[in-house]
Amino acid sequence: MKIVVIGGGPGGLYFSALMKKADPAHDISVYERNRADDTFGFGVVFSDETLGNFLTNDHETYQRITQKFAYWDEIEVRIKGETIISGGHGFAGLSRLVLLEILQQRCTELGVEMHFQHEIDDLDQFADADLIVACDGINSGIRERYKAEFKPIFDWRKNRFCWLGTTKFFPAFRFSFRETEHGVFFFGGYSYDDGYATVVPECTEETWLNAGLDQASEDDTCRFMEDVFAEDLDGHPLLKNRSLWRNFPTIRNEHWYHKNIVLLGDALHTAHYSIGSGTKLAMEDAIALATSCERHPSDVRLALADFETSRRDQVEKTQWAADFSLAWCEQIQRYWDLEPMQFAFSLLSRSKQVTYENLKLRDADYIDRVDRWWAGKIERDQGIAIAGATPPPPIFTPFRLRELVVVNRIVVSPMDQYCAVEGTPTDWHFVHIGSRAIGGAGIVCTEMACVSKEGRITPGCAGMYEPEHVDAWHRIVAFVHTNSRAKMMIQLGHCGRKGSTAIGWEGMDEPLPDAGANWPLYSASAIPYSPTNQVPIEIDSAKMMEICDQFLRSAEMAEAAGFDIIELHMAHGYLLSSFISPLTNLRSDIYGGSLANRMRYPLEVFDRVRDAWPVGKPMSVRISATDWVEDGGFTSDDAVEISRMLADHGCDIIDVSAGQTTKQAEPRYGRMFQTPFADQVRQEAGCATIAVGNITSADQANTIVAAGRADLVALGRPHLNDPYFTLHAAAHYGHEAQSWPNQYLSSKEQTYRLGDRARVEERLARTQQTAVRGRLEPRKNTEGPGNDNS
Ligand SMILES: Cc1cc2nc3c(=O)[nH]c(=O)nc-3n(C[C@H](O)[C@H](O)[C@H](O)COP(=O)(O)OP(=O)(O)OC[C@H]3O[C@@H](n4cnc5c(N)ncnc54)[C@H](O)[C@@H]3O)c2cc1C
Ligand SMILES: Cc1cc2nc3c(=O)[nH]c(=O)nc-3n(C[C@H](O)[C@H](O)[C@H](O)COP(=O)(O)O)c2cc1C
Repeated sequence: MKIVVIGGGPGGLYFSALMKKADPAHDISVYERNRADDTFGFGVVFSDETLGNFLTNDHETYQRITQKFAYWDEIEVRIKGETIISGGHGFAGLSRLVLLEILQQRCTELGVEMHFQHEIDDLDQFADADLIVACDGINSGIRERYKAEFKPIFDWRKNRFCWLGTTKFFPAFRFSFRETEHGVFFFGGYSYDDGYATVVPECTEETWLNAGLDQASEDDTCRFMEDVFAEDLDGHPLLKNRSLWRNFPTIRNEHWYHKNIVLLGDALHTAHYSIGSGTKLAMEDAIALATSCERHPSDVRLALADFETSRRDQVEKTQWAADFSLAWCEQIQRYWDLEPMQFAFSLLSRSKQVTYENLKLRDADYIDRVDRWWAGKIERDQGIAIAGATPPPPIFTPFRLRELVVVNRIVVSPMDQYCAVEGTPTDWHFVHIGSRAIGGAGIVCTEMACVSKEGRITPGCAGMYEPEHVDAWHRIVAFVHTNSRAKMMIQLGHCGRKGSTAIGWEGMDEPLPDAGANWPLYSASAIPYSPTNQVPIEIDSAKMMEICDQFLRSAEMAEAAGFDIIELHMAHGYLLSSFISPLTNLRSDIYGGSLANRMRYPLEVFDRVRDAWPVGKPMSVRISATDWVEDGGFTSDDAVEISRMLADHGCDIIDVSAGQTTKQAEPRYGRMFQTPFADQVRQEAGCATIAVGNITSADQANTIVAAGRADLVALGRPHLNDPYFTLHAAAHYGHEAQSWPNQYLSSKEQTYRLGDRARVEERLARTQQTAVRGRLEPRKNTEGPGNDNS
């Protein structure tokens, strides 16, 4: 095969070496515009996993890399005079120049032709090539030339950063955060060679401009940063090498190849440097492309299709994680007031890839320190002492809301069961709610209990508007209070324009098939939810008053039934939600227009209910924190505003859901996908929050609580298949203090024993992994080149 490689960076060189090694008959030429020893940047970083990949694919380069690298195991977070260390991370740092030398040497040995100082701006000269690999970097000229074919997408990020070096030795990967008169600066720094380290300082655009860095030369930048990070550098200088301030572009390409031209490395994609270097991605691309070529030796198109199919998922996963990481960096101010321990935990878990349990497996002592700090915080903030020598995982700590103390942080999210009879909950509800309470959750929430018959979503929805509803709910609440430690929350709501629809499994949000059975709908404005839904009547003030009275009546009934908490449903497009979203509220009266006006009616309802509800009992409000509509929709910044308003009116906790307000929504699903909104509301509005949405494990819940993203964690669907989610989680962690129903005690011992065994096995697997890593550890950097590493 005749192969032309444009760009002699790590991606292009490694690909060339792998291909030539696989088949020496390949005719491979690399064209690089720079000199062989001309390089930008300082050190590159590889994880254990990446090193493992190198080992499998080319032992020679692996060996040479591992003879040269600096290895470190810990991440160190320095903030506000504290240093927090978490171990078990396993990274290697290597000079970029050394890496290029190793790869160039390997290419020479294998017979790859390399042409330095040879810029390529026209591919016509390679008409006879079977394959052209464009690994010409982040500003790829080839990608630009064929942009109509590759369809690149650029997302230019807001923060400013630059690449610097230093002679200071860092014994661990260091994140350092410093507040200055201009704003907060931080850097990620790692040693890569005897005597050198990479330092990547970053700040918001605003801080950068405040500091006048837009006018700074590279030397000015070095001197300024030496001053900001003086305590980290111990008198060592910062070094420049094309150290210009940049904005990071996340680059994606809709198509990865065109005819026989394929993009690779930075030309193909970027992922924010805060979760690992582009070098690693470029070299892993090289492995993937070489593997695909080997799989399809006689058909380049098939090989390229195979490359895209087999590699895209992994790249997108990395970019997805990197997006969360860069968003965290952009929102640094949001986290600034967290205590250092929580700040560091939030930082470490920012990309969702690293979790509470994951960190515990890496370094049990670190998580022990987190748990102890957390237990102390509960005592300081809430006046509740945590008993026992070993503090429990965060989700098993109590939480106080007014006079109510919830025993743990797990909430059974409200879930419509669609089987109430004329609004009356049945034996199904009794068993369903009862078993979830026995299952150990701190709070069990009912499905939306509608405040009137015409306020129901479907004919199967439960209500709280007739005396028999009070009796039926009372029976359930009494059972829960007698047989478990769970608190009972009732969610009160009115369907608005999303009512009069079929029960969930017969056509979600679809009008009832029997037209005669439909009932009139009311909403903030006369806009139907979809073309097939009924057009609602724009609600007038008399009807608003009537419905407000219904909420009040339902609250009084909830008190009579013995509920502990009321949650008002102001989310998902139902009546109160329809007032809040600018897409569904087009009113020209005092209830429309500005956010304050749109909140007027929801707050009137809230005030009526709050007045009727006992002072010692808390209230929650569920909101949709975004419409998921780019233009003109309700945003998470609006969610912060309305949460402040609700808190001012006496709301104790905001249950942060999202979307379902309009059919135009384009949600971005994923693990814990709504949690960032709970986080934003909690940090910026200063309200307690409940996170909800695709949270599926106790590990995720612990990560959310420990990082301060939410105070409580609601799980919906996971509780449908496992009512005993919380009991299982307690056994998983060996948390003995979790109360079990007496009737089930004989299972407790067995479940905990199985939990113990699983933990031992997990630790064993980790030890084995570490043993493998041990083999990847030819040189551990334990001391620096002549400084005190303080
Ligand atoms: C200034 C800067 C500093 C960096 N510092 C670091 C660092 O310290 N640590 C780290 O891990 N990552 C660093 N990175 C990121 C990292 O370099 C890349 O993610 C990684 O090198 C990607 O590898 P690649 O092979 O895809 O592209 P590159 O390494 O960018 O290689 C592309 C090559 O193509 C050549 N080229 C471009 N156009 C042509 C053409 N028309 N004809 C011939 N040759 C061409 C370029 O000269 C270059 O050598 C830095 C990036 C920049 C921009
Ligand atoms: C069957 C079902 C019924 C639901 N009913 C309600 C409801 O009555 N009120 C509400 O606010 N959310 C309702 N939801 C949304 C859940 O409370 C929760 O926000 C959503 O399912 C996301 O959480 P999960 O990923 O843990 O399931 C319902 C969800 C399901 C699956």
